[in-house]
Amino acid sequence: MKLSALYFLATARLALGATGPITYNATDDACYYTPMPNVTASNETRAAPWGNQTIQYANGTTCCSSLDQVQTALDTIDAKLLELLSNRTAYSREAARFMSEEADVDDPLRDQQIIQRAMDNATAVHLPQIVAQKVFQSIINSTVEFEECIYNTYNSTL
Ligand SMILES: *[C@@H]1O[C@H](CO)[C@@H](O)[C@H](O)[C@H]1NC(C)=O
Ligand SMILES: *[C@@H]1O[C@H](CO)[C@@H](O)[C@H](O)[C@H]1NC(C)=O
Ligand SMILES: *[C@@H]1O[C@H](CO)[C@@H](O)[C@H](O)[C@H]1NC(C)=O
Ligand SMILES: *[C@@H]1O[C@H](CO)[C@@H](O)[C@H](O)[C@H]1NC(C)=O
Ligand SMILES: *[C@@H]1O[C@H](CO)[C@@H](O)[C@H](O)[C@H]1NC(C)=O
Ligand SMILES: *[C@@H]1O[C@H](CO)[C@@H](O)[C@H](O)[C@H]1NC(C)=O
Ligand SMILES: *[C@@H]1O[C@H](CO)[C@@H](O)[C@H](O)[C@H]1NC(C)=O
Ligand SMILES: *[C@@H]1O[C@H](CO)[C@@H](O)[C@H](O)[C@H]1NC(C)=O
Repeated sequence: MKLSALYFLATARLALGATGPITYNATDDACYYTPMPNVTASNETRAAPWGNQTIQYANGTTCCSSLDQVQTALDTIDAKLLELLSNRTAYSREAARFMSEEADVDDPLRDQQIIQRAMDNATAVHLPQIVAQKVFQSIINSTVEFEECIYNTYNSTL
């Protein structure tokens, strides 16, 4: 096992605690960093599922044995993400109340700080940096549009 894989083993356990899934035995560490390595598209056909399972729960059970099992787990997480996004967006709507002009709604410097912080923190929770970057970019972009709508929809004469 490479040193970097050992590092991930340790950090993934620390970051996710006793209840979350643990990604381990990774041989694909480079895919977690930006820039990712240049890879050429494979024309290989392989018997699926290939490789070893990479998720282990705190009770020692490993995952996953079928694509159905994967998709069920993803659906559960997606529902939580949706609720988290709803909560985050509620605060974005509040933020709009503190803006005197529509132009203040978007603060590109702060946007970049949020995205950079997500990327910097991604590794510690074994999240690919590319996922952190694109998801946070997208959250911010869509939130700016939403806040602009809130700002402009408010009738300040009432
Ligand atoms: C992960 O690696 C450890 C140490 O090499 C090994 O004992 C274990 O069986 C591996 N687990 C899986 C699921 O490959
Ligand atoms: C990867 O590909 C990009 C674009 O084709 C190129 O600019 C970059 O130098 C390549 N990186 C490596 C490490 O080969
Ligand atoms: C797959 O790609 C390799 C390398 O580019 C090539 O040598 C091989 O013939 C290709 N195989 C098929 C089935 O296309
Ligand atoms: C799967 O795990 C076994 C047991 O640890 C190991 O010998 C084997 O190399 C692993 N295979 C892959 C593709 O990682
Ligand atoms: C182990 O934990 C996982 C995830 O919480 C759960 O789905 C599974 O049923 C548990 N297995 C056992 C044998 O308790
Ligand atoms: C969202 O906010 C509600 C109300 O404060 C809270 O009960 C809930 O736990 C939050 N959801 C998440 C996923 O944080
Ligand atoms: C991320 O990194 C910043 C410092 O850049 C730190 O203050 C923060 O607690 C970290 N965690 C999260 C979840 O953002
Ligand atoms: C977000 O907006 C910036 C600036 O308008 C743009 O460069 C970027 O491509 C957008 N990203 C996404 C994920 O929409």
